[in-house]
Amino acid sequence: MFTRNLVLSALSASAFVLPSALALAVKTVPPTSFVLVGDSTTANGTTPNSGGWGNGFCGSTITGNAASLAPGTPCINTARNGATTGTFVADGFWDASVAAIKGEVAKGRRTYSMGANLTAMVEEVRALGAEPVLVTSLTRRSFRSNGTVADTLGPWADETILIAQQQNTHVLDLHAASIKYVEAIGPDAAHRLNRLPEDNTRTFIAFPDGETLSLDVISRVSYALADLNINGTTVFGRMVADLISASFPGQLPVIPNPALTFNISHGIASF
Ligand SMILES: *[C@@H]1O[C@H](CO)[C@@H](O)[C@H](O)[C@H]1NC(C)=O
Ligand SMILES: *[C@@H]1O[C@H](CO)[C@@H](O)[C@H](O)[C@H]1NC(C)=O
Ligand SMILES: *[C@@H]1O[C@H](CO)[C@@H](O)[C@H](O)[C@H]1NC(C)=O
Ligand SMILES: *[C@@H]1O[C@H](CO)[C@@H](O)[C@H](O)[C@H]1NC(C)=O
Ligand SMILES: *[C@@H]1O[C@H](CO)[C@@H](O)[C@H](O)[C@H]1NC(C)=O
Repeated sequence: MFTRNLVLSALSASAFVLPSALALAVKTVPPTSFVLVGDSTTANGTTPNSGGWGNGFCGSTITGNAASLAPGTPCINTARNGATTGTFVADGFWDASVAAIKGEVAKGRRTYSMGANLTAMVEEVRALGAEPVLVTSLTRRSFRSNGTVADTLGPWADETILIAQQQNTHVLDLHAASIKYVEAIGPDAAHRLNRLPEDNTRTFIAFPDGETLSLDVISRVSYALADLNINGTTVFGRMVADLISASFPGQLPVIPNPALTFNISHGIASF
């Protein structure tokens, strides 16, 4: 009899707790969506082993990446291969991003627009009713002979961080996090994340004094080092998911992947 009472009270307790918990969830956590803006290091790969971290963040049936987000979370990747901040706007890609942000906000979703250098766009993103989140560039996987990364994007990352401070936006320092990780796993494991095997043969181009190369040279040389294969998009998509979760603790529908997070945070190669 005692047992029966316990069971009954447990049942009735859950009968009361469940609906109010659900109501609370609906009231305090509006559905969240993400709109990504950027270049090839973010872009949506449309063939196997292509694209940037956006595929591992949003998920993609084309490249076979699992999403880092709870099922059903809208995640629209408007990043474009080869785009820079200037050409992104000039070529009309920004208009597509704005349309996507407007669409998500209109549906009543709490919308985050994430990408590198949204400087001129921060105000516009806010005016649209979305939250701008700046993301510094993913590092190129090119190494010096002493094992350090010869990445040339430092000044741009620094500027993005400065802009974030000035505009009081959240910033995800993917540049620093990705350099730390690829230096820990080393060149061979880092190159296994690149899109094409032939990209790897170019990763040993000498960067004796990389930071002073002209932008034109950087863009030609580093383009091949930028793109990821499916394993690369999985790793760096998770890295971004972990960075944005840390920036908005407990507020986002990011699904945990403790094993991959452990590898990334401990500098262990997953692939
Ligand atoms: C990526 O592009 C494909 C079409 O090529 C589209 O079906 C998919 O929704 C896009 N993914 C994202 C996250 O925007
Ligand atoms: C590696 O080489 C670079 C460029 O010469 C230098 O700036 C850096 O301090 C070196 N790092 C280590 C750990 O040797
Ligand atoms: C951001 O975009 C502006 C305008 O196109 C450009 O002048 C600036 O150098 C860019 N900053 C970064 C960090 O890319
Ligand atoms: C973590 O790294 C180990 C060692 O390389 C690997 O066996 C394992 O599959 C990785 N786990 C994930 C989830 O990537
Ligand atoms: C990704 O990693 C898996 C597991 O290590 C491996 O079998 C596969 O060949 C890798 N994919 C690419 C494109 O390197």
